[in-house]
Amino acid sequence: MELSPKQKEVWDTFVHENPKILLCSGAKRAGKTFILILAFLAHVAKYEGMGLSFVIGGATQASIRRNVLDDLEVILGKELKLDKTNAISVFGNKVYCFDGANADAWKKARGFTSAGAFLNEATALHDMFVKEVISRCSYKGAVVMMDTNPENPAHTVKKDYIDKDGQRLSSGRLNIKAFHFTLYDNVFLDPEYVESIIASTPSGMFTERDIFGLWVAPEGVIYKDFNRNKHFISRDQIPTSKIEKYFCGVDWGYDHPGAIVVVGMDDEGRLYLVEEHAERHQEIDYWVDIAKGIKARYGNINFYCDSARPEHVIRFRREGLRAINADKAVISGIEEIGRLFKRDSLFVVDEAKRFEEEIYLYVWNEKTGEPIKLWDDVLDALRYAIYTHLKPKARRTG
Ligand SMILES: Nc1ncnc2c1ncn2[C@@H]1O[C@H](COP(=O)(O)OP(=O)(O)OP(=O)(O)O)[C@@H](O)[C@H]1O
Ligand SMILES: [Mg+2]
Repeated sequence: MELSPKQKEVWDTFVHENPKILLCSGAKRAGKTFILILAFLAHVAKYEGMGLSFVIGGATQASIRRNVLDDLEVILGKELKLDKTNAISVFGNKVYCFDGANADAWKKARGFTSAGAFLNEATALHDMFVKEVISRCSYKGAVVMMDTNPENPAHTVKKDYIDKDGQRLSSGRLNIKAFHFTLYDNVFLDPEYVESIIASTPSGMFTERDIFGLWVAPEGVIYKDFNRNKHFISRDQIPTSKIEKYFCGVDWGYDHPGAIVVVGMDDEGRLYLVEEHAERHQEIDYWVDIAKGIKARYGNINFYCDSARPEHVIRFRREGLRAINADKAVISGIEEIGRLFKRDSLFVVDEAKRFEEEIYLYVWNEKTGEPIKLWDDVLDALRYAIYTHLKPKARRTG
């Protein structure tokens, strides 16, 4: 099997130095999981027919299936079915699949002796689970492999393992070895595909992490690719005749402004914020009137609403409005909006005064890695509308 130069480095280290903990962190689609699956299989094969226990850990059983077992099946050339204990048999050993996202997940690994583990997407796992699995890998020669995308530099996976790259045990055996991948390390990807990923990844944190694989905290303005010269347009520049669909986003607010935005999508998938309503100190009756006005102008369109005020959502429905709970996944939603600005596929009517203020004041909290919850009202409404609308129906709740 052909390996990329970076994967070859990982493989050589695995074979010649046999570190206790072997990590691959970095860019998306860089080839991290692929090489660790190979190394993990080779490791299990060393103990062929010994009936030992191994662990594959992932956030959920579904993500283990998608990220690990499907590729394992291809490599092994056979279907892998989990037994009642969520285990598969590989080379005469048992490999237990544990979902490790929750605080009590570590209990699954308790009282278990393992000869090796592969932890997929390590930052999506609970720290206690990761530590329990490592301490369970007590069989002689056991190896713990982990792959992950980067997150905040303060994350335990970074501090407790990656920052200790090169650490040796008193025996001289390499204890921790960490490899850093960038998108360019996957030489098997089609160059056009790589180019299109780079062109549509938002600037700042998303590019640093997803392309260059760096553990950076987000900083500064969130929508770095918004360019008022390109994305702010006058009403007569909106190609109204080409707009095929309208929908709304709703962010409830009282002390902070409440906001409703109307978004149109044209026949080529470009999006336009065509109306902004943002007011402070207005009761629900006011917002019902605004929404009914929108319905009168655009038809019975969807209102993707902040689900934090279910009584308001219910009130909208009672008034005959198509109120739907929005998908509020913050980082993925921001990534989606950022991608649209980067690709010049999202435009905002220059009458949107609150948007104009917020877009430059909506910033990251570097410590938490989340947005600061100020200057986010119209931007949240816009994110709810677009992120929910662009996702398949199955993902919508309510
Ligand atoms: N040596 C290889 N030979 C052939 N295909 C490969 C090789 N390495 C990786 N690939 C393919 O490249 C794609 C990305 O690899 P992989 O899933 O390992 O990336 P990753 O770094 O784990 O990405 P993510 O962070 O998104 O999980 C996969 O489709 C994988 O099968
Ligand atoms: Mg992966």
